[in-house]
Amino acid sequence: VSEHGRINLIGIGPDGSLHITVAAATAIRQADVVIGYRAYIDQIRARLRGKIVLDRAIGQEIERAEEAIEHACQGRRVALVSGGDAGVYGMAGPLFESLRARGWHPGQPPEVQVIPGVTAAQMAAARLGAPLMHDFATISLSDLLTPWDVIIRRVEAAASADFIIALYNPISQRRVTQLPAAFAAIRQHRGRETPVAFVRDAGRPSESVAIASLAEADQQPADMRTVIIVGNSNTERLGDLLITPRGYFPQRHAR
Ligand SMILES: C[S@@+](CC[C@H](N)C(=O)[O-])C[C@H]1O[C@@H](n2cnc3c(N)ncnc32)[C@H](O)[C@@H]1O
Repeated sequence: VSEHGRINLIGIGPDGSLHITVAAATAIRQADVVIGYRAYIDQIRARLRGKIVLDRAIGQEIERAEEAIEHACQGRRVALVSGGDAGVYGMAGPLFESLRARGWHPGQPPEVQVIPGVTAAQMAAARLGAPLMHDFATISLSDLLTPWDVIIRRVEAAASADFIIALYNPISQRRVTQLPAAFAAIRQHRGRETPVAFVRDAGRPSESVAIASLAEADQQPADMRTVIIVGNSNTERLGDLLITPRGYFPQRHAR
């Protein structure tokens, strides 16, 4: 293994342009090889001239991680790209798990660095004002890698503990039952008027925001480009915003 090969796990934020960090942009500029899901590579295509670009289809995360390791072992500087943050349902897990499976330990080559990015939940929260001002949980509703009974148990636990909940991967063409089931579970613990925000393409030119009550949340369209934020029992709607009080005005919310 070459001493010089390295892998930067790079979160490019929600759009790869306006909300990418300086550290992420710098690491991409310094890379020899850039690997990622094609939709994310497309967002940074203008930054990739002169580089080896491996834009891959959706899925096959382990294959992408293995490719990154192979290139790094040949002494190249690899940028392994994720949307949002690489450590939030991104490429950080598959990469470190693949390295561990090869017997790698920190300090051994290849050197690996994680460069954080703005997550979908953060971007959506920024559009909504202050929805995540109290404790929150992010839950992916995708049961491709996680059994559904684990997912719904976490939804119920987060709902009963009054966490604000950010739902990722809410619905896809093949997975249409999970989101209504999650809303039904949350309704067991939270009022019908609890505000629920649907933010699609957060931070991108095609961004849209819709807010519904928990009672009517099933009627709202959602897809794999949507992140959903369900308020806690204190979250209030103010026009197009969601505000979760933190106790600065205690007379408003008895605790
Ligand atoms: C595999 S996860 C990737 C999450 C990403 N690593 C992050 O840090 O935000 C994909 C899910 O993230 C959410 N998502 C990612 N980018 C988004 C965006 N710009 N707007 C809304 N939701 C987004 C959607 O729920 C989508 O199904």
